[in-house]
Amino acid sequence: MAVGDHSDQTVFHEPGLHQLIIELTGWSMARSPSFFDRWSVSYDRERLQQSTYAPIHDEVLRRLAETKPGRILDLGCGTGQLTKRMIDTFPAAGVVGTDLSSGMLTKAADRLSADRTGGAVLVRSDAQRLPFAAGSFDVITCTESFHWYTDQAATMETLRELLVPGGRLLVASVATITGIGEDVLRFVSQLGGTPIRALTGDHMRAVVEKAGLTVLDQRRIRRPGFLPPPIFTEAVRED
Ligand SMILES: C[S@@+](CC[C@H](N)C(=O)[O-])C[C@H]1O[C@@H](n2cnc3c(N)ncnc32)[C@H](O)[C@@H]1O
Repeated sequence: MAVGDHSDQTVFHEPGLHQLIIELTGWSMARSPSFFDRWSVSYDRERLQQSTYAPIHDEVLRRLAETKPGRILDLGCGTGQLTKRMIDTFPAAGVVGTDLSSGMLTKAADRLSADRTGGAVLVRSDAQRLPFAAGSFDVITCTESFHWYTDQAATMETLRELLVPGGRLLVASVATITGIGEDVLRFVSQLGGTPIRALTGDHMRAVVEKAGLTVLDQRRIRRPGFLPPPIFTEAVRED
């Protein structure tokens, strides 16, 4: 596994009340730069993973089932839960995981090192300043991370550039139901230090399309819990 640093840029080689607490504390604690590092300690808890993140990861893998991607970027990869499943599913692919949090990446490195010695690269980088050349990836996945990005429009434009023509973007994000909900959540979370941009499905579609990608499919991912189900958007770069 390759390890490196591009953050200032470091390259290294989320049901029910439970989910609500995790995500709400996330919003209020996000002012701390080490919030995700601290979260990484408990992030892999089985119940959290199975109820909150696994349904999204399952959907990503279902959507990619018929494909043979050569190069995959897992943006905001966290502890590498989906990264590892993609490596296992597509053993011939080159998989790159990036994340801002060294705590998350350390967990990901442990996971990927456990039974695989090559093929995975973990890069510490802000999703908004990615150190890759245009056309580097056939597939970009981004699960439960996009709502944290400050400049979502610019990030989406970068993601389009990083895809080859015909390349696919699969983004699943915490989402609100209405524009009012989006504004309220952004305002409340801003009081905690970092606004959460949990776009509605229509707003996410607009961001994707404005960046020059074509939306193939958009749906909510059902999972247990009180929060609105995340929005899953699949898009393609047509040229
Ligand atoms: C809820 S976790 C999701 C992790 C993983 N994608 C998954 O599905 O399990 C959100 C991740 O986004 C990362 N993140 C937040 N803001 C980021 C940014 N600006 N650039 C890169 N990663 C970021 C966090 O460090 C965290 O690992």
